[in-house]
Amino acid sequence: MIRRVQLNDIDDIMVIERQSFPIPWEYSIFLNICLHCGEKTSSKSKALFMDVMEKNGRVIGYAVWELDSSKSRGHILNLAIQQDERRRGNGRILLTHVINHLRSNGIRLCRLEVRESNIPARALYEGYGFIVSSKISEYYFDEDAIVYTLYL
Ligand SMILES: CC(C)(COP(=O)(O)OP(=O)(O)OC[C@H]1O[C@@H](n2cnc3c(N)ncnc32)[C@H](O)[C@@H]1OP(=O)(O)O)[C@@H](O)C(=O)NCCC(=O)NCCS
Repeated sequence: MIRRVQLNDIDDIMVIERQSFPIPWEYSIFLNICLHCGEKTSSKSKALFMDVMEKNGRVIGYAVWELDSSKSRGHILNLAIQQDERRRGNGRILLTHVINHLRSNGIRLCRLEVRESNIPARALYEGYGFIVSSKISEYYFDEDAIVYTLYL
């Protein structure tokens, strides 16, 4: 099941975040999103969303993305699956969910950044049809980012 994030998901999310990224997002970032019930509107056209994937009452993954309907662009900011739930198709399901949400909002282009060394994520995105559009030097301070785009 994939649903919008709730405040009581935050402990599960922090466990996954810390096991997934060398520089995890801080608790306060997730708290802020949860306090807005996973849907933050910053202007008429810009909004940020966070959904979680749930299994047996526990969060096993999540995605955070934003859309700018005036520019018809989406941006995936975070996507992670719990370590022992990986390689079971969950990442692809969550990514499809995000892409479908963007499409249903009229978005034409989706972009994301990924660490150059992140082979699993790069394989997921490339397998989905994302193409490398550029590279940002030291985007993560200790590593370059590869920028991927997908035309929807
Ligand atoms: C990237 C991530 C979300 C993938 O989730 P997942 O549930 O394991 O992905 P799936 O099982 O749906 O795999 C989909 C495809 O991705 C690729 N893939 C996933 N893990 C891989 C790995 N370890 N090595 C190589 N390819 C991999 C494969 O092409 C796979 O398709 P296949 O199983 O048919 O071969 C997961 O590894 C993760 O949470 N990583 C840490 C967080 C992260 O890096 N997020 C992305 C930041 S932008």
